[in-house]
Amino acid sequence: MSLLIRNGRIITSTDDYLADIYCAGETITRIESQIDPKSVPPQTQVIDAKNKYVFPGFIDPHVHVYLPFMGTFAKDTWETASRAALVGGTTTLIEMICPGKTDDAMEAFELWLSKAQEISACDFTFHMGVTRFDDRTAAQLREIVGKRGISSFKVFLAYKGALGVDDRELYQTLKLAKELGVIVTAHCENETLVAERQAELLAAGKLGPEFHELSRPVQVEAEGVQHLMTFAELTGAHIYIVHTSCEEALAAALRGRQCGVNVWIETVIPYLTLDKTYAEKSTPLFEGAKFVMSPPIRDKRHQPILWNALRSRLISTVATDHAPFDFQTQKTMGQPPENAFTKIPNGIPSVENRIDLLYTYGVAAGRISLNTFVECASTQAAKLFGLNGKGTIAPGSDADLCIYDPEYRGTISARNQYMATDYNAFEGWEVKGRPHVVTVRGEIMARDGKFIGKLGRGKLLQREPTHFANRG
Ligand code: URP
Ligand code: ZN
Ligand code: ZN
Repeated sequence: MSLLIRNGRIITSTDDYLADIYCAGETITRIESQIDPKSVPPQTQVIDAKNKYVFPGFIDPHVHVYLPFMGTFAKDTWETASRAALVGGTTTLIEMICPGKTDDAMEAFELWLSKAQEISACDFTFHMGVTRFDDRTAAQLREIVGKRGISSFKVFLAYKGALGVDDRELYQTLKLAKELGVIVTAHCENETLVAERQAELLAAGKLGPEFHELSRPVQVEAEGVQHLMTFAELTGAHIYIVHTSCEEALAAALRGRQCGVNVWIETVIPYLTLDKTYAEKSTPLFEGAKFVMSPPIRDKRHQPILWNALRSRLISTVATDHAPFDFQTQKTMGQPPENAFTKIPNGIPSVENRIDLLYTYGVAAGRISLNTFVECASTQAAKLFGLNGKGTIAPGSDADLCIYDPEYRGTISARNQYMATDYNAFEGWEVKGRPHVVTVRGEIMARDGKFIGKLGRGKLLQREPTHFANRG
């Protein structure tokens, strides 16, 4: 199968130009100002991209698809999540493997892999969650990195007693990561402070979703980041802070960077767009629960700070932290008076909407440039996580493309989404633009809001274990 994309405006993280692209099989082989259709094989599929942008396929470096969490399971499967990702312009997903504290690391790896392999329509890989550190786990982590092509770990400094690691485990994990040359992604919140504040709020009868933010205020997140910085400085490990929500956490990470820590910063689309008043909504009944995630969505004052940090590229990536739980049967597990916000499964689904929201409220609103849009939603994730052939448009790179129509106008709604949840946190939000055609390694997978590809087309991306070994 070959593809010729004509008359498009090609945008990478550094360039912006008009040209034609020819893809032979899975790879981009030619980029020229005009490619004569007679110069390509007769069966070549031709796409006219006039007045459209041609972006590299977008990469979401932080999603949860299979997720046993807080007494329930996330709603998506790789069938629903990968279709949703592709319709929304994302061609590669990186999922967090989250073993329980007593689970075997290798078994967890195999389990998470089995959920995606031969099912996912988009390409994928994993961050290997480390929720316990002992000799057996260390040996298995070495194998997962060395033989299974995984080059990043994930640690939780939050979720006491469930996924969180203690300081000894954190130190040992970072030392091993440094030795193996892998990058460690980290959820930073001080779990003891969270537990204490939750207990205080519950004792005071403060049970609703509006109290979730008070239980994990900005200082709790900033302390988590600061804590991690100390460990990273001592071990020399390369770290990546996931879902940074606020000015204080950002400042703590940047202080670490000034001290020489190799740290990269991610934010996620809910923090750039939603604010804590959403979690305070009580009508319709318990509406605020839809917006409960951790760290919590914050006061609006943080949004311009995050956007500015993105524009100046202090923040490297915009992910989703897609964590899909139904409203009716799952979010309501935390409904007072029998229950409380501490029982609401944490997470907001948005894998389908990240690109349109970032384009609409970032690029079209004048907050970030087209190049920064590509940088933070694709290129940086490819570089940081060793996704060779992804994240750019160049001869030799994978033919993962998102041909984007900036003239499209539409409204987000759960009624016509591919995500499996019964709600959308952005219900009724206007979008200016959407993917027109989305390809994965040369095959068209989505067109104008519809999935038209094949399930199982996605492959596990093998990554270089020594990606960071010799740097810094
Ligand atoms: O609230 C969130 N973020 N849920 C998903 C799990 C995590 O912490 O990333
Ligand atoms: Zn997290
Ligand atoms: Zn997450």
